[in-house]
This record gives sequence, structure tokens and C-alpha cells, in this order.
Amino acid sequence: MGRLQGKVAIITGALGGIGRADAVLFAREGARLVLTDVSDRGGQEFAASLGTEALFLSHDVASEEDWTRVVATAEERFGRLDVLVNNAGLILLGSVDKASYTDWRRVNAVNLDGVFLGCKHALPAIERAGGGSIVNISSIAAMLGQPFAAAYGASKAGVSGLTKSVAVQCRQKKNGVRCNSVHPDGVKTPMVVKVATGQGRCEPRRDRGDRAAQHALLRARGHRERGAVPCQ
Ligand SMILES: NC(=O)c1ccc[n+]([C@@H]2O[C@H](COP(=O)([O-])OP(=O)(O)OC[C@H]3O[C@@H](n4cnc5c(N)ncnc54)[C@H](O)[C@@H]3O)[C@@H](O)[C@H]2O)c1
Repeated sequence: MGRLQGKVAIITGALGGIGRADAVLFAREGARLVLTDVSDRGGQEFAASLGTEALFLSHDVASEEDWTRVVATAEERFGRLDVLVNNAGLILLGSVDKASYTDWRRVNAVNLDGVFLGCKHALPAIERAGGGSIVNISSIAAMLGQPFAAAYGASKAGVSGLTKSVAVQCRQKKNGVRCNSVHPDGVKTPMVVKVATGQGRCEPRRDRGDRAAQHALLRARGHRERGAVPCQ
């Protein structure tokens, strides 16, 4: 039996590098999936290829209206929601003195507001299911300074802080919901390739999308498996 057998999971940014790896792994472990992305290029085909019950929805994570629709669709289609993976994200390069305020706001709208909205709208649904898990994809940039991407680092640090607030709130409520953040580094995806080719300041070391997906799965499954992904 799969480690997510029968669970219903929303994965945002599911057409990107880490989101796809998450979807493939979650499907292999028996989850039923609501895959979302702001791009809908090949989304239906990807969902149909996974060999599990899965649907694709067009979804801008910065839109509260979209979140209402996505969570409602998950419950209507599958009767419950157990897991949310807040994976969608973007990076716009710029040091604090060079980045435009428009870019700062766009990065934070997607990376931080999007995670806030996801937690806000999914939490009641996961509570209705009797408990589950929220996995927020933060970044190593939450912990280290990234002078070439000030808005990105700030947004990911915000995700870490928000995750802790949600986790403590759920603990206090004893609602059976866990909330954890995952902090990848250097997974060779379209985002990192963009950074590497845009300014040459970030070298993707190797393709570790599968490892990032393993971490998301373990956080979705439960804290007892924490740290079970071996370092390479
Ligand atoms: N690749 C890495 O090394 C790395 C390191 C640290 C953190 N991360 C984080 O992992 C997550 C996935 O990144 P990735 O490397 O797979 O990048 P990616 O660019 O391959 O995928 C990101 C996906 O998010 C989607 N997206 C962007 N804006 C959106 C919006 N407004 N609404 C919905 N979807 C939107 C994109 O269409 C894309 O499919 C991101 O949150 C990223 O910050 C990645």
C-alpha cells in the first residue's frame, strides 16, 4: 500500500520542476491529486499520465478567488482534502538597491501571499477531513543571504515564519494538522536555469528534484519520518 494511499493532495506549481517530481511521487504512493499551475500548458495531459485519479486546474496562487475555487473543487471532486503542497514560486533577480518595487511586490505576492492564501483556505478543509498536512516549499534562501535576489530571499524567510505560526496554531488547536517547510537548494529546474543563465551567479549543482519531492512526501506523511532522506 502506498504511503499516501487514498489521501487527496493539492500541489501548486505542478508543471514546474519540483512540482512535477512531487506529483509523480505522490501518484506513485497512491495519492489522488489536484494539480494546479498559472501556466496550463500540458496540464491536463500531465494529470492524465500519472496513473492515479488526478485533475489539473488553472490557478494563480496570488488570487484569493482562485484559491476558493481550487479548494472547493478538491472537496467536490474527492470529498476531502488531506494535503496541500504550496510549491508554486518565482524568482526575479535584483539586489536591494537595484530591484524595482514592482518586482519586490510581484515576488512577494506569489511566494508569500500565495502561501498565506493557500494555508488560509486549505486549513479549514483539512480540518474537516480530520487532519492532514501542509507542506510549504521555502528555500535555503530563507536562511542564507542572496544579494542578487533580495525579494526572493525575503519572501522565502516569510514562508518559514508563516509555517511556524501555522504549525503552532494547529498544535494548540490539536486539530491533527501539521505544517512544515522544505528548504531546497540548487535543484536543476527551469527556475534555477533562468537564474544561472540570467546573471551567472547561481550554479545548479545537479538534478535533485527527486530528493526535494521525497522531502515533500515525508513532510506530508508525518513528522516521525523526519530526516529520512539521506544526504548525497
Ligand atoms: N530549484 C531550486 O533549486 C529551488 C531551491 C529553493 C526553493 N525552490 C522553490 O521550489 C519551488 C518550485 O520551484 P522550481 O525550481 O520547480 O521552479 P519552476 O520554475 O520549475 O516551477 C515553478 C512553477 O510555479 C509556477 N508558478 C509561478 N507563478 C505562479 C503563480 N502565480 N501561480 C501558480 N503557479 C505559479 C510556474 O508556472 C512553474 O510551473 C518554488 O517555490 C521555488 O522557490 C526551488
